[in-house]
Amino acid sequence: MDTIPSEYIRAENEQPAITTIAGTVLEVPVIDMGDTDQENLVRLIADASRDWGIFQVVNHGIEGDVIMKLQKVGREFFELPQEEKEVYAKPDGAQIVEGYGTKLQKEVEGKKGWVDHLFHKIWPPSVINYHFWPKNPPSYREANEEYTKKLRVVADKLFESLSLGLGLEGHELKDAGGGEDLNYLMKINYYPPCPRPDLALGVVAHTDMSCITILVPNEVQGLQVFKDEHWYNVKYIPNALIIHIGDQIEILSNGNYKSVLHRTTVNKDNTRMSWPVFLEPPQELEVGPVSKLVNEENPSKYKTKKYKDYVYCKLNKIPQ
Ligand code: OGA
Ligand code: NI
Repeated sequence: MDTIPSEYIRAENEQPAITTIAGTVLEVPVIDMGDTDQENLVRLIADASRDWGIFQVVNHGIEGDVIMKLQKVGREFFELPQEEKEVYAKPDGAQIVEGYGTKLQKEVEGKKGWVDHLFHKIWPPSVINYHFWPKNPPSYREANEEYTKKLRVVADKLFESLSLGLGLEGHELKDAGGGEDLNYLMKINYYPPCPRPDLALGVVAHTDMSCITILVPNEVQGLQVFKDEHWYNVKYIPNALIIHIGDQIEILSNGNYKSVLHRTTVNKDNTRMSWPVFLEPPQELEVGPVSKLVNEENPSKYKTKKYKDYVYCKLNKIPQ
């Protein structure tokens, strides 16, 4: 029972048992979003985004029961028989991201992550395709809509703080990322128990392509961050949201903020789940360093290109 198919066994330089700094749980910055001292909040968020590219937020304004319902309906979907989940499967080889599946990035040598996922857009209404929203459980839609409504407030506050932290006006970073056309892409990761968590990975090392990712985890440890040349477990904090700085904010900020390299491990006995929402520019939007941040001393460090072209290069491992 303690063997797994070879396509799940990582190369030694990726195996969690060999490459994780054991015994140290990384305390990434934990930021109180209820802080009424705005200057302080901006400074904390900007510092964390510069030095870590990841932080956790508490007092974010999303009630515990809204998050619990989101988790409950997601778990119920993934616990359905395989045939019912396959109804939402993305067509083989399709270039679309939405739907149920087991693999996103092309991996070398046909390796696989120990994870299933479901993607669907949740905002703005014009981009939502309910075909990819589970009909079962019946309250799936309501739970996701309620979470989305609350999440938008958190997202706006994060964008504003990140913008002010660069000396820009509060609205500028969000505007440059698409403004009200910013796409909210929900992903559910489902990591079943794995007999050999020492050899397999859930999601392999990557940075998110989004502007910002806002993630709800369940209580099973699994997120790891690459810091000072090593992999560390990130501490689970009940009711916190995990914020990842993605590639597009790194680009917009001309490298002031850093997207964070992260991956996930799996567990021998317990199912891990997570609900990241990727805040992404619309496909056709050109994204490059904000012009106010580029001058003679700070030349542009990134190409300006359409978001869809960025995504294409990244998924196909073509240099940007
Ligand atoms: C991802 C991701 C982390 C997690 O899906 O992009 O990094 O905690 N997930 O599941
Ligand atoms: Ni990620």
